[in-house]
Amino acid sequence: MLIKTAEFVMSNSEVAKCPKDVLPEYAFIGRSNVGKSSLINMLTNHKNLAKTSGRPGKTQLINHFLINKNWFLVDLPGYGYAKVSKTAKKKFQKFITDYFEKRQQLVAAFVLVDIRHEPQKIDLEFMEWMGVNAIPFSIIFTKADKLKPKAIERNVEAYTQELLKTWEETPTYFITSSTSSVGRDEVLQNIDITNQE
Ligand code: GTP
Ligand code: MG
Repeated sequence: MLIKTAEFVMSNSEVAKCPKDVLPEYAFIGRSNVGKSSLINMLTNHKNLAKTSGRPGKTQLINHFLINKNWFLVDLPGYGYAKVSKTAKKKFQKFITDYFEKRQQLVAAFVLVDIRHEPQKIDLEFMEWMGVNAIPFSIIFTKADKLKPKAIERNVEAYTQELLKTWEETPTYFITSSTSSVGRDEVLQNIDITNQE
């Protein structure tokens, strides 16, 4: 898919205030610092469309980006960042659960996990929650540039084996790097296909 235009539309803290447009949207979720905002920049070929930071907790609101004037990419705050206060953490989690439970326009989510790490409880629990709530999602492994191909293969295999303990089949997954653009075509193609269904 060709990305012709990508525009920031709005940030807000309530799902009720999200754009009223009835356009398909795709959301990016995962732990703080996993690379959600960087991935949005990589997919859209924009350096600073979504704000990124080396420090976790950068994205704190629901951010809508209008793509090709007819669908949205949504950048969300990360979950599981221990350093924000308990009240703030709760608030982020409520945004996130509210967004996924209420946003009618959502077509599918991408749950991002850092390819370097072993399966983390919080991510597995989040995917479980998505499953229980019947919210379609794929997995995106991020930061593939940090590992050699053999290690990527090994880690993805370990991850899928862990998922198969609770899932009948592994969700669709993508291996990506925001620095090298690996996986860009595959993710965009996946969006393209579901956009036309
Ligand atoms: P929050 O908004 O805090 O939840 O984080 P986020 O998931 O949006 O992460 P963000 O995109 O801000 O990236 C976090 C850090 O990881 C930044 O320092 C990025 O440069 C780095 N990063 C993100 N993606 C990649 C990648 O594919 N490869 C490498 N090497 N670094 C990455
Ligand atoms: Mg972010």
